[in-house]
Amino acid sequence: MAQAGNDAQTAVAQAYRVFARREVRGRSAEYEALAESVADDASALGFIASLPPGKRQPQLVFAAARYLLGAPPVIGSLRELVRRSGAELTQVITTRRTQTNEPARCAVLLPALARLPQPVALIDVGASAGLTLLFDHYSYDYGGYLLAGRDPDAPTLRCQPRGPVPLPSQLPDIAWRAGLDLNPLDVTNDDDVRWLSCLVWPGESDRAQRLAAAVACARRDPPAVHRGDLVTDLPALVARAPEGATLVVYHTSVLYYVSPDQREEFVRTIRGLGVVWLSSEAPGIVPGTGTPVRDELQCVLARDGHPVARADSHGTWLHWLPLW
Ligand SMILES: C[S@@+](CC[C@H](N)C(=O)[O-])C[C@H]1O[C@@H](n2cnc3c(N)ncnc32)[C@H](O)[C@@H]1O
Repeated sequence: MAQAGNDAQTAVAQAYRVFARREVRGRSAEYEALAESVADDASALGFIASLPPGKRQPQLVFAAARYLLGAPPVIGSLRELVRRSGAELTQVITTRRTQTNEPARCAVLLPALARLPQPVALIDVGASAGLTLLFDHYSYDYGGYLLAGRDPDAPTLRCQPRGPVPLPSQLPDIAWRAGLDLNPLDVTNDDDVRWLSCLVWPGESDRAQRLAAAVACARRDPPAVHRGDLVTDLPALVARAPEGATLVVYHTSVLYYVSPDQREEFVRTIRGLGVVWLSSEAPGIVPGTGTPVRDELQCVLARDGHPVARADSHGTWLHWLPLW
């Protein structure tokens, strides 16, 4: 029993070191330092190892602490929170999910979307609050190549193109759009928006500003995000899409969070639906898109399971592969 506990703490320490060194390094000095400190801290490790395995991720634990503390945690405030309010922290961690909603991921999908026969109908699987449904609201800046969206107050998504990115001459014509999520977040609900902001890493002020501007934009025209599971509830949502538009089902940074069995079932399901399938996930998460690596920093953009580009998981660059 004690050995199992020690093994769990060793695995947590290892995961937090990987997070520090491969995910947040260069992006959030605060979380890099915190994750390294957690990996060396017996009380923090004991607490995290006592959580259900799917709830031990640094993003979730740190966001929950931030939600309760009202400020990004440091090792001292986290240790104190665990000591004084461990039950409350556990409650936030177990009832909430990693639902980071990054509008800049639209800049990664946009070139693939704009190449399809228009108009398009969109289903965003694992949509969180639906901010990655609003392609045509945002403006884009691909290294100086500009595209103006329909909402002048929406954020401009800056994405550095590399390789032969087929930059679109206009934004997609979106006939219909819907999201699907196990736990839809509501852009008009202040508490949901607070949770979204707690998921942004400290030090990433550009992301915080982009999120605030995208939420303000979404509040002017809230996207519909339906509650449901990506395997069992997708076919029913597909059936609701209108005729006469290219139906595109896509997901960004979602399959990483589901079990390998569910992933396989999802892939089987989506291949049987007769839709265009776009994915932007960590390498290897979609079969045929590379060797899995233990971080989320890079994604592979794939169409119908075939890689077409590599991209930053937060949408800051997009590297098109020459053959597509
Ligand atoms: C990291 S967030 C990504 C959100 C959004 N796609 C983006 O890129 O900004 C992952 C989302 O997937 C959702 N999710 C996880 N498992 C799911 C499932 N089995 N069915 C539907 N949604 C799921 C989570 O609730 C969460 O909102």
